[in-house]
Amino acid sequence: MISQQHLIDIQDYSVDEIMEILDTARSFKEVNDRPLKKLPTLRGRTIVNLFLEPSTRTRTSFEIAGKRLSADTINFSASTSSTQKGESLADTAETLSAMNCDLVVIRHRMAGAPRLLARHMDAHIVNGGDGKHQHPTQALLDAFTIREEKGGFEGLKVGIVGDISHSRVVGSLVPLLKMLGATPYVIGPATLMPAEPETLGADYAYSLDELLPELDVVYMLRIQLERLENAPLPSLREYALLYGLDTERMERMKPDAIIMHPGPVNRGVELTAEAADSERTVLLDQVNAGVAVRMAVMYLLLGGDSNGIAA
Ligand code: CP
Repeated sequence: MISQQHLIDIQDYSVDEIMEILDTARSFKEVNDRPLKKLPTLRGRTIVNLFLEPSTRTRTSFEIAGKRLSADTINFSASTSSTQKGESLADTAETLSAMNCDLVVIRHRMAGAPRLLARHMDAHIVNGGDGKHQHPTQALLDAFTIREEKGGFEGLKVGIVGDISHSRVVGSLVPLLKMLGATPYVIGPATLMPAEPETLGADYAYSLDELLPELDVVYMLRIQLERLENAPLPSLREYALLYGLDTERMERMKPDAIIMHPGPVNRGVELTAEAADSERTVLLDQVNAGVAVRMAVMYLLLGGDSNGIAA
């Protein structure tokens, strides 16, 4: 059992609670690998996926996760909800609350939207990504994947590369890695770093090539073209030359280092096609872990405990 009502900021969770999520996800991953994947554990529960920004992986995996646990899942997108007609988030929350929803997953362009939702409804709230702030289930599925690949976290050097200042993945992954005993580094051009990078709580560097041979995990971030303001990059081609992962850079990585990316990939920018499709790249393992981790989050928030998974 975890003592949390919501999953909004990863720092709200203790290391024990994080480990309980990862261990529960491990059990669900085994269920997901079977021909019959459905469990009755959340039968009668209602889960709403309120995705007011585009998403493929997060929205789909929350929906699959809810269905695999036998919950009733309902999806809203920006184009099909009354937010399109100007309804406020607070009014949307109170409307969903009146329908007795048990858990709401929200993605929103505004940092703090999940917290606002939590103030207006009794349901459990899960942050599916809010602006540039946090994406806690992404960080959890990344941690799950790292543990599967590396056996643990202690002493691992994880380089998080690219568009640091616009990344909600950084907002959750840096504190989570530190909690688990790994050492995160944020690496990118000065124009894509916050003005005070030390506030991120990680070591930072402007050169990928200097740190690359030391890293156990090379985590490439997506360049968030939709959030770039005032063109802080001279060109994507120049970015790819300095920070993109290609065959030549892969050869300079530790032999057992892995490549991660939250998706979607801008091929030819963060990763060449050879890097994206290489055997050291675990992108699809991350996506696979996403379903199990999201099953674990919903199950534990709705009162399940890790000993009670009816297999
Ligand atoms: N990683 C991630 O959040 O992907 P989506 O935008 O497709 O959900």
